Amino acid sequence: MPAAERRQAKRVQFSMEKMWAGRFAKALDSKADDFNSSIRFDCKMYKQDIKGSIAHAQMLAAQGILSLEDCEQIVLGLCGILEDLNSGVLDFDMNCEDIHMFVEAELTKRIGDAGKRLHTARSRNDQVAVDVRMYLRDEATEIIELLERLIVTITDQAEANKDVIVPGYTHLQRAQPITFGHHLMAYAMMFLRDVSRMRDAMARMNFSPLGSCALAGTTYPTDRRMAAKALGFDGITLNSIDGVSDRDFCVEFMSAFSLVMMHLSRFSEEIILWSSWEFRYVELDDSYTTGSSIMPQKKNSDMAELVRGKTGRVYGNLMAMLTLMKGLPLAYNKDMQEDKEALFDSIETVKMCLDIFAPMIRTMRVRKENMYRAAQEGFINATDLADYLTKKGMPFRSAYKIVGQIVAECIEKHCVLDNLPLEAYRAHSELFEEDLYHEISLETCVSKRISEGGTSVASVEAQIAHVRKELNGK
Ligand code: ARG
Repeated sequence: MPAAERRQAKRVQFSMEKMWAGRFAKALDSKADDFNSSIRFDCKMYKQDIKGSIAHAQMLAAQGILSLEDCEQIVLGLCGILEDLNSGVLDFDMNCEDIHMFVEAELTKRIGDAGKRLHTARSRNDQVAVDVRMYLRDEATEIIELLERLIVTITDQAEANKDVIVPGYTHLQRAQPITFGHHLMAYAMMFLRDVSRMRDAMARMNFSPLGSCALAGTTYPTDRRMAAKALGFDGITLNSIDGVSDRDFCVEFMSAFSLVMMHLSRFSEEIILWSSWEFRYVELDDSYTTGSSIMPQKKNSDMAELVRGKTGRVYGNLMAMLTLMKGLPLAYNKDMQEDKEALFDSIETVKMCLDIFAPMIRTMRVRKENMYRAAQEGFINATDLADYLTKKGMPFRSAYKIVGQIVAECIEKHCVLDNLPLEAYRAHSELFEEDLYHEISLETCVSKRISEGGTSVASVEAQIAHVRKELNGK
């Protein structure tokens, strides 16, 4: 029986006695219990929850709130639970409302009364706020690593294609010649900003709400900073109501994830276009493409299409999170339990997409010949022809107009700027001389664009060096 079904089968008809049963005359209806419970998804945070409890117990003992013997039992008990969950010996009890209650109940089952002392001077409200922060911290660290791996891959491809000439586009119309390395480095810059955005969000998030308790703090002489330090936080949240109430850090990360997906999605769109017979600029490796069930010739860019598609759900999760929070009075409200599934889904989606994207780019074949052929058509050196006249003293606007007329003439004569005879040029302006052909060659157009950030090989090399330095030579 699959794990999910097994867990469902284990559920009792009527809910088991709750920790808060003392105040109630009747048990919770079993459907209401199901509806209310979050263990089926917050069990993902068991490691963080247990670590948080260990730090809390040690703080309580250091402050004399808990005896050293109780603390030792609690810590040993919690370590045992962690080990057993890791190894699979212990399964989550789906009758527990959430991961916090499960860990406490399991601990009490194992060590008795000492386990019942763990929840002194804390509440599930601060537990969940601390667990989500720690979970996000761990996951965001992994996402940053995946992003860095992708940036390295893109930079390597850019290096290998730093002098490959391809049309650059605006409005998806051929605009000016660029190097393919330049185009790829644009994405490296975007992903580099995504990394820095996540680091910024991490720095703002990394304050511990543990010890905020339900909302008002506690009468026990706790040392919140000690627990925070043990858990790797840079400090504590300075207002206990804020500590348990806000999920702004989730919004920040989910918005950073949305931007990662936006960048991946634009890249996907280009890869899909470039792979089409209309462009034929790249060919994805067989291992990252699929065939059709009916059309034998097809090679589809399914991975890129799926990444583009999955962007929608990551945006959706962000909207769900923002909407969830917008009307909530302070402090904790049960609505906030809805934060986790959206957050977890975004995390998993971004990780999956990044994981598939890097090898897809690494194994992508670049078809230089087709890129060059496309660059020879479409008058993408027209700006350079106008610049040629401008450099000889003609005002740019006048040069622009003359070149427009020359392009129209070429279209009529079915030729391109590079093979229109000099006499035809001179009929438009005496300033045209033999050197114009050299000035408007694709190679010159590209190699002369040495402005910082431009498309010349030297400039692309500088961009590559910058990115590699940012990644500390990875
Ligand atoms: N399962 C809850 C959540 O995810 C934990 C906090 C519950 N607190 C409460 N007062 N009911 O938000």
